[in-house]
Amino acid sequence: MKVLANDGISTSGVIALEKAGFEVILKTIAQEQLVNFINENKVVVLLVRSATQVRQDIIDNCPTLKIIGRGGVGMDNIDVDYAKEKGLNVINTPSASSHSVAELVFAHLFGMVRFLHDSNQNMPLEGDSKFKELKKAYAKGVELKGKTLGILGFGRIGQATAKVGLGVGMKIVAFDPFIDSAHIELEFFDGQTVNFTIDTISKEDVLKQADFISLHVPAQEDYVISTKEFNMMKDGAGIVNAARGGVIDEIALIKAIDEGKISNAALDVFEKEPNPEVQLLMNKNISLTPHIGAATNEAQNRIGEELASQIIEILR
Ligand SMILES: NC(=O)c1ccc[n+]([C@@H]2O[C@H](COP(=O)([O-])OP(=O)(O)OC[C@H]3O[C@@H](n4cnc5c(N)ncnc54)[C@H](O)[C@@H]3O)[C@@H](O)[C@H]2O)c1
Repeated sequence: MKVLANDGISTSGVIALEKAGFEVILKTIAQEQLVNFINENKVVVLLVRSATQVRQDIIDNCPTLKIIGRGGVGMDNIDVDYAKEKGLNVINTPSASSHSVAELVFAHLFGMVRFLHDSNQNMPLEGDSKFKELKKAYAKGVELKGKTLGILGFGRIGQATAKVGLGVGMKIVAFDPFIDSAHIELEFFDGQTVNFTIDTISKEDVLKQADFISLHVPAQEDYVISTKEFNMMKDGAGIVNAARGGVIDEIALIKAIDEGKISNAALDVFEKEPNPEVQLLMNKNISLTPHIGAATNEAQNRIGEELASQIIEILR
């Protein structure tokens, strides 16, 4: 049986599938040629990430297809309900990248409390001529330990972020309209574990109590953080968005930074991807990454392996 991994899959995923007798095609077929390719090659499983669109044309015209698999979380590029109506299995790997995103949040947090994003720009330019001035400019760092991390959206990634925060010695407060309480288990290298139960509190209380806010909500119609919410936060708070572009009002963010309400922000996702606002890109108080939350080797391996095991389970 043939699996077409049109947007790629990890080597570990390929090995697992091949061991189970599948043939994995690692080509990227252009969108308009997909229907023909799938039919000519009798492809049974179509794996995609975010690039390939799986719409009604493919679902209706490819009778050999049994499974559509999305490596990752969001299924915006797949007509999921329609595919299921037509009897196809639609699978994804919602948990595989949670820890990678959580670590990226902390990469930003650790960086921003010590101004690393700015220092990394200025040291190459002036490190040899203005060392003492730069030393003074970056002298007022703070520690994360002992600070309060407010998490908005306490699902998979929110809880993974809480785990890292607890490990760092932070207090965690969280808001989620659909989750009252979460059990968090910290596992250590030697097999020891420490358990925490975190009861969620109101959004307003999270905003008021947190030194740093991290967003882990799905895309939604309204901003989760805009001027009203910035005004509720502590003066000088920090904020990280590694969830979805559009959950923070970027104009309100720039204003809050300019007014000193927010001391630092970090963005991995943007309202206008792939062309974020230049005002954000040029702001020295914003630590920036180009939507790489899930982009670690470990997450890619887990995604490939999880897809492989689900495919084997369904088709065996
Ligand atoms: N940066 C990246 O590369 C990257 C990678 C993977 C996922 N993500 C994004 O991270 C986000 C979280 O993913 P997840 O896997 O944890 O999802 P999840 O579904 O497990 O958790 C999301 C939680 O948010 C809660 N929620 C919904 N609306 C809310 C609101 N207004 N306020 C507070 N909580 C709210 C939900 O009840 C849910 O518990 C998603 O937007 C996802 O697209 C980003």
